[in-house]
Amino acid sequence: MLFEQQDRETPNSTTFNEWIADRSLPHLSTNAGAAAVSYQGWRRFKESFAPELVARAIQETETSLGRPVECVADPFGGSGTTGLVSQFLGRSSATIEVNPFLADLIEAKLTAYDYEELAAAYIQVLSCLGTRCRSEPFPNAPATFVEPGVGGRFLFGIDVATALYDLILTIEECVANPNLRRLLKVLAVSVSVDLSNAVVSGKGRRYRRNWRDRYLDAVNVRQRFAAQVHRAMYDIRRYGLRREPAFRLLRGDARVLAKDIGPIGVGVFSPPYPNSFDYTDVYNIELWTGGYFSSAQDNLTTRNSTLRSHVQIVRSFSREGVVSDQLNRTIENLTAVRHQMWSRHIPDMVGAYFADMRTIIQQLAGQLVSGGRLYIVVGDSQYAGVSVPVSDILTEIALADGLEVVGVEPVRSMRASPQQGGAQKLPETLLILRG
Ligand SMILES: C[S@@+](CC[C@H](N)C(=O)[O-])C[C@H]1O[C@@H](n2cnc3c(N)ncnc32)[C@H](O)[C@@H]1O
Repeated sequence: MLFEQQDRETPNSTTFNEWIADRSLPHLSTNAGAAAVSYQGWRRFKESFAPELVARAIQETETSLGRPVECVADPFGGSGTTGLVSQFLGRSSATIEVNPFLADLIEAKLTAYDYEELAAAYIQVLSCLGTRCRSEPFPNAPATFVEPGVGGRFLFGIDVATALYDLILTIEECVANPNLRRLLKVLAVSVSVDLSNAVVSGKGRRYRRNWRDRYLDAVNVRQRFAAQVHRAMYDIRRYGLRREPAFRLLRGDARVLAKDIGPIGVGVFSPPYPNSFDYTDVYNIELWTGGYFSSAQDNLTTRNSTLRSHVQIVRSFSREGVVSDQLNRTIENLTAVRHQMWSRHIPDMVGAYFADMRTIIQQLAGQLVSGGRLYIVVGDSQYAGVSVPVSDILTEIALADGLEVVGVEPVRSMRASPQQGGAQKLPETLLILRG
């Protein structure tokens, strides 16, 4: 059993094995049932790591180093798996996340709370609800956000929008403790997609079938928020005392911040894949409802700070300094069928993706302690029948930069996106590098 003896020094804390309920998984890919684990169900995150993968990376690195790692780093925090696992295992961690809603979600999960104070803050919010002067809900959001919307289409009916806006502003105004304020706000914002007329999936956002027949109001907003808070309170009560309560969270672009982490024992991460999927889209509803965005410019600024894995915005797709024959061949092949693609920028974006990945890997490798490792889960992509063999290209780049490749393991196959041809399976791979 993984890390069974871990908690002798802190006997009251919850063990890693208790947290994952001693389950055993068929594979350690992303999307391997992480949402079933406490904390990870607060907001479904399809691409989150199985916690066991992070535990494995720590364990293998420590076995090879012969001592505990000083810091576990994750430059692409997402749902915060790496920070959580590190806390359960009693290791220091540093997480970077560019998306401000996800950064708040990570911080809300990793923070320790006084349970009684949390319960009191929740009751305070309930008693203040509806006492504020009513104002126009989400006044800065796009015109399609609130009824009447544009052309008869809108994401939130007026009753839901008013109640949700009131809930979020009430939390902001009446909870004095900033940690509790962040937690309650994240929980409120996390139910917003459920309350909207849209569903969000890996394929993007679309209106629910029959959304016009679905009537929700303030009662639904309060019920969903209550259920969400009760779930979080259970998780915090049951698993809130962890062996390492501290954590570091760096908010912003990993391409800029990764160099500032300091000594790293092991880096464990899964970047966005070069499949034209932008997390700014996936979390757009939360970003607006939570007030993380208050103008179109905010949306653009966040998109510009994300890895160049998508073509949602056109920016410089330069790829200077990347040494890989496989990448050169892949870009030639993609360029030859550029006319069949839904965006002519895709071949250049793919080149830029590897330039960004090289920057991150170099920055982390430069801070690895001697013998420290990087565990990177990556997925291949495909456009107009041309495969982008991500792990093969990254292996070439890493070798050219003087890193040692310790392992290249298939993790599972992913379904290709509809733009990439649908059903075909694309490999997901764990790449293990040593500094
Ligand atoms: C595949 S997800 C990571 C999932 C994570 N391993 C987990 O277990 O939840 C990739 C994350 O990288 C973030 N991201 C994208 N570009 C970034 C950048 N330039 N700097 C930091 N984070 C970025 C996205 O917002 C997303 O949350």
